[in-house]
Amino acid sequence: MSEQALPIIDVGPVRAGDLGSMASISAQINDACMTAGFFYIRNHGIDETVIDNVVAASRAFFALPAELKQKVSINKRHRGFSALGDATMYGAKRPDCKEFFTMGLELSEDDPDVKAGQPLRGPNNWPDFMPELRAAMSAYYEAVGCCGADLLKAIAHSLGMGVDFFIDRYRKRLQRTQLIYYPPQSAEMGPHQFGVAPHTDFGCITLLWQDNNSGLEVLNRASKSWISATPIEGTLVVNVGDLLARWTNDRYTSTPHRVINRSGYERFSIATFYDPDFNAMVDPCDLDISPAERRYEPITAGQHIVNRLDQSFGYRKGATV
Ligand code: OGA
Ligand code: NI
Repeated sequence: MSEQALPIIDVGPVRAGDLGSMASISAQINDACMTAGFFYIRNHGIDETVIDNVVAASRAFFALPAELKQKVSINKRHRGFSALGDATMYGAKRPDCKEFFTMGLELSEDDPDVKAGQPLRGPNNWPDFMPELRAAMSAYYEAVGCCGADLLKAIAHSLGMGVDFFIDRYRKRLQRTQLIYYPPQSAEMGPHQFGVAPHTDFGCITLLWQDNNSGLEVLNRASKSWISATPIEGTLVVNVGDLLARWTNDRYTSTPHRVINRSGYERFSIATFYDPDFNAMVDPCDLDISPAERRYEPITAGQHIVNRLDQSFGYRKGATV
């Protein structure tokens, strides 16, 4: 594995609303999204206590007995707990060696989209046996969502659009935030066992917090080798997903990555898939691609995400919503 570094971009000025810094930051983002498809962000603006609280809650939750965690097993709205073996990445030989807990935008049963049966929508699936998880995770969800919104201003700018291009498309966002737990992997598990098998992310952008145990690896297309996304204190790892690659007509690249927890320790991460409204139309022509150049038909963000979830999660096989 080579030790090539992924770029580190300081997004502090963008988070502070300093539009004067936009040109230089969005130029760095443009380079990173066109080449590695991955970068670190520094000065992400999420309070340290918010992170400490959610990480502590995550450690406590995954340490609970399996029978208890199963009480909030993932439901058809993709909310709740998935045990070891529940997720198999498209094309992988074995299920991933990870447990995770997923939340989304909290909507009540009275919400019009929930009533209309829009897939993936509804209330979260909180454990009543661990009430503190809700507060800690919801605080992180909102904070990382604000960071995602600011980042998308810079991404819009990097694509030559107005900084508010994504705002109307993220009013009722399909943001999914996932606490992930990777048990240590032993060599006996063999070469086909991954924490997460090689994959690209489904949505627009992913923002990842990781603890200080390495494990995430990113494919370098030129050298065809895996680069370690080594943990760097105070940063998040950001990557382009398939939906943003599609939206940009492949100007931006959605890069394969994987996790193998060889650290010998339990590894914890928090992945946030910061995705648009269900009905947001993803059409390259809206990003100034001419109809003649357009490689992809328009699709709603929600339909694309539902299609991809259905391919990877056993519990969704045959799911209609
Ligand atoms: C993912 C992912 C990386 C990590 O969940 O899609 O790539 O380090 N996670 O948990
Ligand atoms: Ni991923």
